[in-house]
Amino acid sequence: MQAVVLVGGLGTRLRPLTETIPKQLLPVAGVPMIERVLGQLALHGVDRAVLSMGYLPDAFVAAYPGGRIGGVSVSFAIEPVALGTAGAIRFAGHAGSIDETFLAVNGDVLTDLDVTALIDAHRSRGAEGTIHLTPVDDPTRYGVVVTDATGLVTSFVEKPEPGTSPSNNINAGTYVLEPSFLGRVPDAAMVSVEREIFPRMVHDRSLYAIVDSSYWIDAGTPQAYLRANKDILDATRTVSHPGSLIDRTLVLEGASVAASATISCSVIGRNARVGDGASIVGSVVLEGATIGDRASVTDAVIGPDAVIGADATLLDDCLIGASERVPERERRSGTARAA
Ligand code: GDD
Ligand code: MG
Repeated sequence: MQAVVLVGGLGTRLRPLTETIPKQLLPVAGVPMIERVLGQLALHGVDRAVLSMGYLPDAFVAAYPGGRIGGVSVSFAIEPVALGTAGAIRFAGHAGSIDETFLAVNGDVLTDLDVTALIDAHRSRGAEGTIHLTPVDDPTRYGVVVTDATGLVTSFVEKPEPGTSPSNNINAGTYVLEPSFLGRVPDAAMVSVEREIFPRMVHDRSLYAIVDSSYWIDAGTPQAYLRANKDILDATRTVSHPGSLIDRTLVLEGASVAASATISCSVIGRNARVGDGASIVGSVVLEGATIGDRASVTDAVIGPDAVIGADATLLDDCLIGASERVPERERRSGTARAA
């Protein structure tokens, strides 16, 4: 089966990391998100995928020049301008000459969904589209979906106002679609599957959904990206990873950690260095980054080749961009800077 994987978003909620690295190339426990997404789809019979991209496309091509990711043969559909989620599926669908049932997935979703069961449910109902739903506590930052007892979608509301959500089941970002879906998308800039095409399919009674509560996370915010890493460290999600995982800390090849440093529930990336007396808690240190002596890093993501000065303090979902330098003794919380 063929899949379209949407990887063209700007990743605004993960800036400044995503100013140079597309979100789906950020590693989760040492493996780029896109490899985890495609590796999971391969388990369910996906053998070909079109990466639907617009933002920083060269980074993907450079990272996977052989055209294989996670055991799947991939081709790249590069949009001339951002087309929105539906426009992107249409563009990639035509690039991949899709003419039979296919999958479309949000490239920042990590899940153990039983994709085979989703496809079976789609076929047995004769649906035009079938969406994976997952229950969440706060649905306001997602697409909220209501179904009837047969699974027919009766309402799809993207990002409802707080307090107005008609359900706690949200669009989890994996769709089984018929080729007729492609014909529904106008050839125009910025067409949203969630705001335009799915509501029309609801009206036409051709959209179904099933709830599956297996592991699921949209890793597109700092908190969720850190959570996706920690879920593998503490075995909430059991998937493979490189390096050595001891006591909820994953140390990747070539990393050096001073004996006097304290590390807990964190990832130390390839060739990263952690100095004397440094403390790293609940954080992800990416490839080649340097953490200065006595620096304190808590719930933070340190970009590749960044240099954190001695005695600096980073906390509260702070993101440091690739090759960024944080001066000695500086304190940063979130993305705000406070000297
Ligand atoms: N090619 C392409 N072109 N890809 C895009 C574009 C575009 O114009 N816009 C967004 N994408 C990609 C993103 O890279 C991401 O992988 C995916 O489409 C979804 O975009 P996000 O920006 O991550 O959307 P979201 O997380 O706010 O909401 C979406 O996902 C939720 C579940 O995680 C929606 O589909 C919600 O309905 C859903 O609940
Ligand atoms: Mg997202």
